[in-house]
Amino acid sequence: MVVAKTRRTSNGAHRKHYVVYGHYDVQPPEPFELWKSPPFEPRIQGRSLFARGATDNKGQHLAHLKAIEAYVKTGTELPCDITFVIEGEEEVGSKSLSGFLKENREELTCEAIVISDTGIPSLKHPALTYALRGIAAFEIIVHGPSRDLHSGIFGGTVDNPAMALTQILAQLRDKNGKITIPGFYDDVQPLSPYERKQFKRLPFNAREYQKLLGVPKLFGERGYTAVEQRSARPTFEINGLTSGYQGEGSKTIVPAWARAKITARLVPNQKPERITKLVTQHLRKLCPPTVRMEIIPGHGAQPYLVSPTSPRAQAALRALRMAFDHEPLPMREGGSIPIVQEFKNILGADSLMLGLALPDDNAHSPNEKFDLDCFAKGQLMSAYLWQELAKAS
Ligand code: BES
Ligand code: MN
Repeated sequence: MVVAKTRRTSNGAHRKHYVVYGHYDVQPPEPFELWKSPPFEPRIQGRSLFARGATDNKGQHLAHLKAIEAYVKTGTELPCDITFVIEGEEEVGSKSLSGFLKENREELTCEAIVISDTGIPSLKHPALTYALRGIAAFEIIVHGPSRDLHSGIFGGTVDNPAMALTQILAQLRDKNGKITIPGFYDDVQPLSPYERKQFKRLPFNAREYQKLLGVPKLFGERGYTAVEQRSARPTFEINGLTSGYQGEGSKTIVPAWARAKITARLVPNQKPERITKLVTQHLRKLCPPTVRMEIIPGHGAQPYLVSPTSPRAQAALRALRMAFDHEPLPMREGGSIPIVQEFKNILGADSLMLGLALPDDNAHSPNEKFDLDCFAKGQLMSAYLWQELAKAS
């Protein structure tokens, strides 16, 4: 945990305290061969800075540090007391940070948490994020024979773990994009007609979106728009699938095992613990007696939802408007920041999420970048933010 504080008030005047949260850890950079330059050697080309972590999250967080630096270097009095908390486990569930918050509750007590680790639709559409999805992670291993077997000598008499695993997984989602795990949707808070109407106001061009992602056609849960599917509906994704021979050419074997890495994205009021239980029960039921299944639960995070109309949210919207010179939008995001609901639970503080990532920043993908114009606007936003927050009740 890296903690840094601005100099506390000298004249005894009461200033509001805010915590700025960010993370310095990153997702694995592989596959290396798809990077146009080494992931850990930052490279500027045009108005983009390429590197793993450029947008997620170092570049975005740096905007706040630079804004504070500007206050300090110009001798401008900061309108708020600020504590930076920067951690290195966000991308794997922030498992140490909850304890740290509990141990340092007093020092970290604040009006709200400020985070720039989410996205905006474009430079012309700054946004205040008021909801995040949660997550539940697992690994599933299907064990077959005690070793890889000659598929000619033994194939046909034993089950194939890769086949068994994929057949199990294929049953978990139907053709309408619904997750078929019993109880999966039980706790999902339905979307209000008002919110669904608001979603329609967000800029979204299906054609451009499809092109950006390089898919022949979009796919999602029937009955919901793409905006809803990616931010306000739960999902069940295979993140990795491994079995058998992956080298060049062919190898005629029945593999000894097959393994899948899975994460489900959760929405309010789904609980990662309950989802883990439902998934585990269902998988066990689907597993045939011809293989042995091992399920390893991974990290989990609660979803988050907060009102975008509070006085502090209004202050954040004003700062965004001034910095970007465009009307900001309140929006929900599909990604997860595991500690955000814990900030609420432990410190009683809500999070103001002022993202600076663009849709084509390639977060978690090869050639991740951060837009330098967004960086400049982000610094301005942060500089304005402290003045606006100081005024907000
Ligand atoms: N910055 C992202 C979260 C994010 C991305 C929120 C885009 C909204 C829009 C964060 O660093 C992240 O990637 N978190 C992980 C957490 C998980 C591995 C526990 C995620 O969402 O996959
Ligand atoms: Mn990330």
